[in-house]
Amino acid sequence: MTDQVRTHRRHFGPNRRRQRGAATVILALVTALGCGTDDAAEVFESTEALGEALFFDTDLSLNRTQACATCHDPDHAFIDPRPDDSGAPAAFSVGDDGHSVGGRNAPTAAYAAFAPTYHVGTRIRFSKQSNIEAYSGPLGGMFWDGRAANLEAQAGGPPLNPIEMGMPDQAAVVERLTANPMYAASFERFFGGDVFDDDERAYEAMTAAIASFERTDIFAPFDAKYDRALRGEETLSFKELTGRALFFGEFASCAACHQLHSNGDPVKKFEETFTGYEYHNVGTPARAGAAPDIGLAVRPDVAADETRGQFKVPTLRNIAVTGPYMHNRVFRELRTVIEFYDKFVNPERTINPETGQPWAPAEFPATVSESLLKAGRKLQDFEVEAFVCFLRTLTDAKFEPLIPDDGIDCDE
Ligand code: HEC
Ligand code: HEC
Repeated sequence: MTDQVRTHRRHFGPNRRRQRGAATVILALVTALGCGTDDAAEVFESTEALGEALFFDTDLSLNRTQACATCHDPDHAFIDPRPDDSGAPAAFSVGDDGHSVGGRNAPTAAYAAFAPTYHVGTRIRFSKQSNIEAYSGPLGGMFWDGRAANLEAQAGGPPLNPIEMGMPDQAAVVERLTANPMYAASFERFFGGDVFDDDERAYEAMTAAIASFERTDIFAPFDAKYDRALRGEETLSFKELTGRALFFGEFASCAACHQLHSNGDPVKKFEETFTGYEYHNVGTPARAGAAPDIGLAVRPDVAADETRGQFKVPTLRNIAVTGPYMHNRVFRELRTVIEFYDKFVNPERTINPETGQPWAPAEFPATVSESLLKAGRKLQDFEVEAFVCFLRTLTDAKFEPLIPDDGIDCDE
């Protein structure tokens, strides 16, 4: 049994039981083990439950080793926690063929449903800094470069991606679906008796089911310490409060890009995703040996010169447990990310603490969002730690045990 399958099997257990009725779990297990013929008439209880089974199903990959959950592990904040051969975090996700790797960090699928459909528009920012104007430009969408408009469009990608799940075409995926009696019956129930008449329609139905599962609150519990404190159920430590004040305050520019709603909004403030879904180049250093990544400029409808090296601002929900960081996983520690931002305003912050070398240059210096990144003031070392402590409060309750023990004491 490969590591991937082992990882996969484990997810079927406690996760599913906690979220769904036992009956669904047993049926899904029967289906997963490929002995579901006796249940030919059985259907999933909802599109979401169907989507859940699909999300965990390795049959959607060519060699049947890989599911969405392999790279978006529900036990690890929906990222890819698989280590490389040395036990260190892998550079990038390995595909179903066991050796192909992509060139990008698998972002968390948690809270992804809150991204607006890709569009060009204007957005008000809630930064407390002066001179921060509204943003106009590309917003929302899926992937680091926004090349998929929404969750449905996104979910259609991985099964056919040769370096991910590796299926040759839609027809081959649909064949896998119809080979499973419970899928076949459920697709017809939820998407119409003629859904399998057309491969493209059946494939779209699959992406709709997966997306509906990704929109459930399993992906967005909003039960981090940050949320609990907002609801008055818990208090933040001095360090966490200091980090929060810095994050939202006038001394740092984080909020311009990483705050979606006004802190004064009595309803929306409870749904903060810590990204405004804008596109920016923050000057992330190249990863040694990796090809330059143009990001948003891959889209045919944007001006390439202005957007090269821009990426969708990622959510900071669960950020303490989703490293390594940035689109290219160039930083292993959260602390390094903070020091990296500080270098824009702190002339003493010249060394990348992870390499011991000066910060490597931005891949595309011409498009770096300099004015925003230089809008803050420099940080003291205790403030760097306070930032890390605040960001840890964005960890969903279930993932709190995964917060790394790196010697930073956030209780003081
Ligand atoms: C081999 C690993 C792998 C598999 C399998 C995989 N993904 Fe991903 N996923 C990634 C990577 C890497 C990215 C980022 C790619 C990019 O931005 O170009 C990504 C991006 C995403 C995003 C975008 C999140 C955001 O905020 O932009 C979602 C949602 C997602 N995947 C869901 C899924 C679903 C659903 C499946 C199964 C149909 C799946 N993934 C299968 C690695 C994987
Ligand atoms: C100009 C907009 C902008 C500002 C200001 C900004 N960020 Fe970001 N942030 C981004 C973008 C874009 C990325 C992704 C960059 C990449 O992958 O190359 C990112 C990435 C991150 C990441 C890593 C996310 C991941 O999933 O790997 C963290 C952590 C982070 N920012 C925290 C902060 C903090 C803390 C501040 C304030 C000190 C801040 N950011 C200021 C736009 C911004």
